[in-house]
Amino acid sequence: MKILVTGSNGLLGQKLTDLCRQQIDVELIATARGEDRYPEKNKYVYESLDISNHEEIKNVLAKHKPEVVINTAAMTNVDACESDREGCDKLNIEAVNFLVEECNNFKIHLIHISTDFIFDGTHGPVLENEIPNPISYYGLSKLKGEEAVINKCNSWTILRTVLVYGVVSDMSRSNIVLWAKNNLEQGKNIHVVSDQFRTPTLAEDLALGCLLAAQKKSNGIFNISGKNFMSIFDLVYRVAEFWKLDKSLIHISSSEGINQPAKRPPITGFILDKARNELGYEPRSFEAGLKIVDDQLKSLK
Ligand SMILES: NC(=O)c1ccc[n+]([C@@H]2O[C@H](COP(=O)([O-])OP(=O)(O)OC[C@H]3O[C@@H](n4cnc5c(N)ncnc54)[C@H](OP(=O)(O)O)[C@@H]3O)[C@@H](O)[C@H]2O)c1
Repeated sequence: MKILVTGSNGLLGQKLTDLCRQQIDVELIATARGEDRYPEKNKYVYESLDISNHEEIKNVLAKHKPEVVINTAAMTNVDACESDREGCDKLNIEAVNFLVEECNNFKIHLIHISTDFIFDGTHGPVLENEIPNPISYYGLSKLKGEEAVINKCNSWTILRTVLVYGVVSDMSRSNIVLWAKNNLEQGKNIHVVSDQFRTPTLAEDLALGCLLAAQKKSNGIFNISGKNFMSIFDLVYRVAEFWKLDKSLIHISSSEGINQPAKRPPITGFILDKARNELGYEPRSFEAGLKIVDDQLKSLK
């Protein structure tokens, strides 16, 4: 099976590259904006692809004719989306429309990654059929991206995910696990919200969910996240416990106290039964995920 991944320089994109390179029955076309930042340049083909450029999408798909496209590229910085709404629309909505159109033209199955931020977060964990009600511009843009896929794409899967963490050798962005670990290791006090709840997702598990969806080409929406529901405070506490760091540096805060430009849904997290039953998806526990992060950090040294 030939799979084309967009945004291959990102966290999920690099984990998908790791995974697909190991599969004997997968031919991977990794694509990203500009230079390839994956460290080992073999067992896949790389093409530069800016998904906001319709013509480039058409040309790359015509050249490689993949069976499946996995769209991991997005504007993922929630606060940046709040201030740069035009840039956010361009990537999270317009570019998705281009991908849908060209996937239809070339009869390609599109796997599109979405988010728990399409919900308002009044309760959780939630099922796939919960009614969306975004409270941030990022969430709204991702919902509109979903709608483009659902309403116009001929063959599609949407995988929604939650708070993704993991290590890649060239990280353009950090994540909550690495942020907490780094700050606590440096003896810094950190303020962490106890009123936001999630099912944090190891990037490797999400990549596996993508591969399972590519193999099954199941139409529909699937929740793909970790299985342990916890507050962000608990998450950071568990990070401190795992690496034996000073827990007295962790201070409880409320979302209001943190003062971020974009609102975050208080309670999300996902019920995974559909992905378990239909895709055979089974994520690791949070601590098993931290062990993987730990091993990878050691191998980077
Ligand atoms: N991370 C989370 O906590 C989280 C939670 C829920 C859902 N999601 C969703 O999961 C997906 C993957 O997220 P991630 O964590 O892997 O994010 P990420 O690390 O920020 O990766 C996104 C990638 O998209 C690339 N990109 C940006 N503009 C592009 C363009 N015009 N053409 C091609 N590539 C472009 C970025 O390139 P540069 O590196 O060059 O900027 C980046 O590498 C996204 O759809 C996101 O909305 C993520």
